[in-house]
Amino acid sequence: MPDIIKMKGVHKTYRMGELRVNALNGIDFSVKKGEFVSIMGPSGSGKSTMLHMMGLLDDPTKGSIEIKGREVSKMDEDMKTRFRLRELGFVFQFYSLLPELNALENVFIPQMLMGKKNHELRKNALEVLGMLGLEHRTMNYPHQLSGGEQQRVSIARAIVNSPEILLADEPTAALDSKSAANVFNSIRQLNEKLGHTVIVITHEESLGAMADRGVWLKDGQITKEKNF
Ligand SMILES: Nc1ncnc2c1ncn2[C@@H]1O[C@H](COP(=O)(O)OP(=O)(O)O)[C@@H](O)[C@H]1O
Ligand SMILES: [Mg+2]
Repeated sequence: MPDIIKMKGVHKTYRMGELRVNALNGIDFSVKKGEFVSIMGPSGSGKSTMLHMMGLLDDPTKGSIEIKGREVSKMDEDMKTRFRLRELGFVFQFYSLLPELNALENVFIPQMLMGKKNHELRKNALEVLGMLGLEHRTMNYPHQLSGGEQQRVSIARAIVNSPEILLADEPTAALDSKSAANVFNSIRQLNEKLGHTVIVITHEESLGAMADRGVWLKDGQITKEKNF
């Protein structure tokens, strides 16, 4: 399989007035199409920064990033926005569902941005919610759902436009261990069934081991890699 993500010598320095924080210090990292990779490491080690770089949410200070064969630094903001909408799905720790919309309607949103027709919105949303075991929860509002269910709705929303790459930043950090395992299982099953490339940050090494490969960060550098 070809590399779908390639980072070479990536550095990221945040400047806050006089203060500089070197969040990433020379990251060389590739991901194969269809691979499921977990990123682990202590708080502040640069995990989110690395994911933001792969998600085109922020620019590196130095180094190159290629996604699907395209050099990210050569893309303008409009291209990045379109790329994010079509090719990338994001899942964050705190679900970020809209409280005034039910589960089904929350999953409509990314499709509406793509200009999908009404009957398609519904069909696609029902399909992905079903894949995540939420067919009986489609009319519920976020406050009527458990944390694990809310996170599965946000995963449904992230994959409804069939992105090639799913990026998740500590998607289970706010969940109890049973719901966390459930959410990880869902991500694993989707990866096997639909073949998305998946990159997930987690603190839980037992969950991280459900991936094909784990990488560990410390002080903005990769200190260890392991195939599971
Ligand atoms: N937007 C930002 N501005 C300034 N410093 C930041 C910013 N984002 C992250 N940092 C710093 O960069 C380092 C790495 O952060 P982060 O990537 O969030 O680590 P992790 O996700 O592993 O906890 C930390 O020291 C953090 O304080
Ligand atoms: Mg983080």
